[in-house]
Order: sequence, then structure tokens, then C-alpha cells
Amino acid sequence: MPLTSNLSGPQGQFYAEPKPSPDATSFQIDNTSSEYYNSVYYTQHKNDVQPVPPPRQSGPLDLSNFLPQQIMDAIDAAGKITFHSVGDTGAAKVNRAQSAATAIEHQGAIADAMVRDVQSGGDTGPAFFFHLGDVIYNFGEAQYYYDQFFEPYRDYDRPIFAIPGNHDGMVFGSSSSAPQVPTLAGFLTNFCAPIPGQSPDAGGLVRSVMTQPGVYFTLDAPFVSIIGLYSNVLDGPGVISSQGGQFPLLDDQLTFLQNELERLKPARQAGERAVLIAVHHPPLSVDAKHAGSKGVEADIESCCEAAGLWPDVILSGHAHLYQRFTRQLPNGRQIPYMVSGSGGFAATRPQGTIPPAPYTIGDYTLEIDPIIDFGYLTITTDGNDLDLTFKAADQTAVTVRDAITLNLKNGKISNGSTFSAAGSASGSSGRSTAKGKKKTTGKSPKKPTPTKKGKKK
Ligand SMILES: [Fe+2]
Repeated sequence: MPLTSNLSGPQGQFYAEPKPSPDATSFQIDNTSSEYYNSVYYTQHKNDVQPVPPPRQSGPLDLSNFLPQQIMDAIDAAGKITFHSVGDTGAAKVNRAQSAATAIEHQGAIADAMVRDVQSGGDTGPAFFFHLGDVIYNFGEAQYYYDQFFEPYRDYDRPIFAIPGNHDGMVFGSSSSAPQVPTLAGFLTNFCAPIPGQSPDAGGLVRSVMTQPGVYFTLDAPFVSIIGLYSNVLDGPGVISSQGGQFPLLDDQLTFLQNELERLKPARQAGERAVLIAVHHPPLSVDAKHAGSKGVEADIESCCEAAGLWPDVILSGHAHLYQRFTRQLPNGRQIPYMVSGSGGFAATRPQGTIPPAPYTIGDYTLEIDPIIDFGYLTITTDGNDLDLTFKAADQTAVTVRDAITLNLKNGKISNGSTFSAAGSASGSSGRSTAKGKKKTTGKSPKKPTPTKKGKKK
């Protein structure tokens, strides 16, 4: 009997509402925080990074602490796991002319499509949603969590993990003259709570607060681990270290990243799991508003070289469109750099000067022309192959717009989906199912002795 609705996690977590309800058409609290862009404080501090709170505890999250054993067993029996990922989902009005209903529709179409994926997927459908940051606009005040997070995902009956984006980090208080609320306050309350329970910001909806140890953390799931990083509050660039003293930050996050890569290396090399990195600011982007963050790319590279392990995929948001790049490593492996900040807020066009894809500079190739429609990623892996599918969604249709498979053994990318014929991109050679099942215990890889961070280049 599939557990397809109203799950309760092993620690008493709740996810979806007991009964479905119509989408909202207006905000409970009209969002006025864009006015802070004009404040003296923002003007004076818009180029300053904010402190990064240390994790409450070390060690990864284990998905088995968030889903019923029946679903963990079903994933194990199926020999593969599927999950959602997208960023930049908040339903705030992009300008005075846009109605609240339109803003809500944009996010709602994506959220509703993901809900239908979960409802139709049964116990082996999408197991969780890994949010790529910018959950709340324009700034991450707790009062907007109902309208932009709890209400849109009220029927999403799976856990939602998140890395914060720049908008989640910037939080203003009752006065626009100074940030009277500490950075990340709303995010910490709703995603980094010490124990599961009802959120003060959920307006009575049942979804439990998430219990991530901090704003950077690793999620260990069967067949895949996701290392989530926090790239701070600037509109650009993303920052995960002091970058040689340029930013007044500790380099603890680099130590964390290198340690996590080293911890996961044996399981990755044994072919037991894929290793992904999620960071809100994309290392690469050709959108007109947000360029890539070269400092983030250099920091990740230094940690990978020191650990002797590269991620299989890098997931990012921040740029409000879909972009797919490939990085070609000297050892022949290919790393997809996926940018999916397409969750419903303020679609942004690419730069007008880029040539048609595929477009290569050095080791990096923009593989397809950027897709400006709102949509989301569905990711499936069995530890041998990893599918990445981008679906665009509006109120009328959900359409597969891009689908690739990464062979985790040789690091080669091919077009089309291995695990689902429905996930095959138009014009690509989708292959369906029939993969050999691979047994897993669903347990986290062992934690090694921590090591010093990698030297920066
Ligand atoms: Fe962002």
C-alpha cells in the first residue's frame, strides 16, 4: 500500500496538509520589503558580506531521519532515488504593475507540478525537494514565510531541505534604517531548528520546521549525497570564503567542504553514490543580471583538488532562468553545472551578446541556449547513472525541455533520460528503465578524521 499522502517522519515531522485546498490568490501579508533597497542601510552595506553562523552540530543529515521506513525500503528495493531541485521560488511582486495573483501563479505552477510528481510517483517518486536558495523575497523576513513557502508547498508531502540564497540572508526589522533582525533569522527558524515542530511562521499549516544543522550541511540519501554551501548575501558575487582576505569571513566553509569530499570519497569511488554540490550563486552564468562567481569556482576547485574528489554535478540558482554548462576536466570527466533559479520569481533573459549554444570558452561549454521559462529539475540516480531533467511548468502544461544522463563511472554526459521515457527531452534519444538494481543500506558514509582545508590557489 503506497504511502502517497500525509506522511509522518520518524521524528514526528509533518509535511502536507491533511486536505488539499485551492491556491491562494492574494498575499496574507502584502510584501513591501523591496522598499529596503532604497534604505540608507542597504545603500551603505550592499557590498558587505554578513557573518555565517557556525553549524549547530557536525555530521551530515541522513534522509532516513525524515522519511518513513516504508519509503526508505521502497527506494532501496527500487535501487534508485529521485528528488526535486530548484531555487528562486518566492512569490513576491516583481514590480508595482504585477498583481499578487500573477506572482502567486508563477510560483504556484512550479509548486503544483512538483506536488503532482510526488502524488503520482508513490513511494518511489520524488523523495525530497532540495531548494537552491532565495526561498523568500525581497528579503528573508519571517513574516513572508507563509505566503512564499508554507502556503505554496502545503501539499508537497515530502521533506524540503534548503541552502539560503542572498535574499534569505538579508533580513530587515521594523525600521529600514538598520537591520534590527540578525542575518538569516527567518531561515534559521524555519530550516535550521534544533528539533522538528510547528513553525511560528506557518500560519497554522502543518509542515514541520526543518532541522538542518546549519546553513551549510550535507544531506546523505541512498545513492546520493548533496553538499550544500552558503554563498552569502551579495547580489553578486557569491562568497564562501575570505577569498584571500578580501571578505571578512572565516574559511570554515572550505574546511567543511574539503572534509565532506574526503568523507564521501570512499563511497563515491566504490560506486555506491553520486556526490553533488549545491551553491546558490552559480559559478557560471550568462544571464543578463547575474554573472558567474569565479571566486566560488576557485574555492570549490581548491577543495576538490585537496580532497582528490570532484563533484559529479554542481547545482545553483540565483539566475532566474535555466542554463546548463559542462566543465571538461583534464582527466576526461565532464561535470554538469546546472543553473535552475527558475522557480517562479522574475524571469531574467540571458546576455544579448552570447553566440548560440553550444558555446565553449576554455574548459566550459554552454550546452543549450538558456531557457527563460519557469521550471524545475528532477534528478534520479542509482549510483551508476544520474539523470537531470528540466521541466517547464505553467498553469496549463508541464513540458520536458532538457534531459541528460551522466554516466557516473566514466563521467560522460549523454542526451536523454536513462530512468524515465517521460523524462526524455524532445529530439533526444531517451532510453527507458531496465537498469540493474543496486542494493544499499541507506546508511551514511563514515565520517573520517577532519583534515585541514585545501590551500587556495
Ligand atoms: Fe539570489
